[in-house]
Amino acid sequence: MIIRFMLNNMKKNLDADPADKLSDVLRDDFGLQSVNSCCNTGRCGGCTVLKDNLPVPACMVRMFSVRNSSILTYEYISTTKEFETITNVLEAMGCNFCDFCKHGKLITIYSLIMNSVPLTEKEIYEALSGNICNCTDFQTLAGAIRLAVNSIKRGKRAERK
Ligand code: FES
Ligand code: FES
Repeated sequence: MIIRFMLNNMKKNLDADPADKLSDVLRDDFGLQSVNSCCNTGRCGGCTVLKDNLPVPACMVRMFSVRNSSILTYEYISTTKEFETITNVLEAMGCNFCDFCKHGKLITIYSLIMNSVPLTEKEIYEALSGNICNCTDFQTLAGAIRLAVNSIKRGKRAERK
């Protein structure tokens, strides 16, 4: 079945089994190795991508539901100006993630900041609940995310002047 969709802002027509997992297709057909296949049950968040601008575990998305949608992966998101601001702030605050969770978690944080500001601590906690990690202090992370929001806002204001 030919499935038409946008991948990292480029049109794709892929001949795929509608039951194929998006995570497998992204890795095997497009070589997008940022999409981790860890638990394959939708619990760890290692395979997170943006589907129509919302974070989803790609291992739980079947190709039939990808038709006419937009998929963004870490490979694309990590080239944006906002992503650079976010990672600079996170690093300055000492929030460094391991290779297991890094891509998925940064996609979730990027989406959270781009889609829903201002952010409460509860919203940050809920948004990150799909990305398993017991080794980052949540208060520090929440503080860093708020700082990143302010940095992006300041940058946008400066651009308008
Ligand atoms: S591999 Fe998809 S959520 Fe764990
Ligand atoms: S920093 Fe990767 S699992 Fe905690």
